[in-house]
Amino acid sequence: LSLVVLISGGGSNLRSLLDASDDAEFPARVVAIGADRDADGFAHAEAFGIPTFSVAWSSYPDRDSWGDALLEQIEEWQPDLVILSGFMRLLPERVVSALSPRLLNTHPAYLPEFPGAHAVRDALAAGAGETGASIIVVDNGVDSGPVIAQERVAILPHDTEDTLHDRIKIVERRLLVQAVLDIANGDIDLEEFA
Ligand code: GRF
Repeated sequence: LSLVVLISGGGSNLRSLLDASDDAEFPARVVAIGADRDADGFAHAEAFGIPTFSVAWSSYPDRDSWGDALLEQIEEWQPDLVILSGFMRLLPERVVSALSPRLLNTHPAYLPEFPGAHAVRDALAAGAGETGASIIVVDNGVDSGPVIAQERVAILPHDTEDTLHDRIKIVERRLLVQAVLDIANGDIDLEEFA
């Protein structure tokens, strides 16, 4: 299974996929890593000798032209699966349509609870006793696609956004690696979500 992973930040979830795919038994390979900026997570790509591409949001006049350039870069790799892992931009509909259902996103909440870019902060602010991590098939909404894996994560009394997010990411990484495995070995059939 060939993967293209898109990031915007440090790419710690990406790193877990790279570490997993380092094992010859793992049935997936990250063939390229993309971002909407010069992401810190590109350092992981260099460590593993994986090509990167950056389609800078600020280099395009509008979302659609940015999306078309991003899609062109992705399609060059002909991936079996595209994973948004800490990618902080909404994709234009035509990009989602072109890639769906082979397009996953990781989200640091128990969807449909706390969608959007501030899920961890929102869970804390809500005074919830628990939140979670979710892997979804991307649709044209915001974190609204079908959930293919999710798990609860406790919120502890003295949690800050960082301590909670770090605890969520540990679960997210495990769910992401498992979801890729499940897709590679057919336990999850993404065509069900087409
Ligand atoms: C992850 O929790 C992801 O779900 C969210 O942002 C975080 C990215 O972290 N969208 P990293 O860049 O993988 O460390």
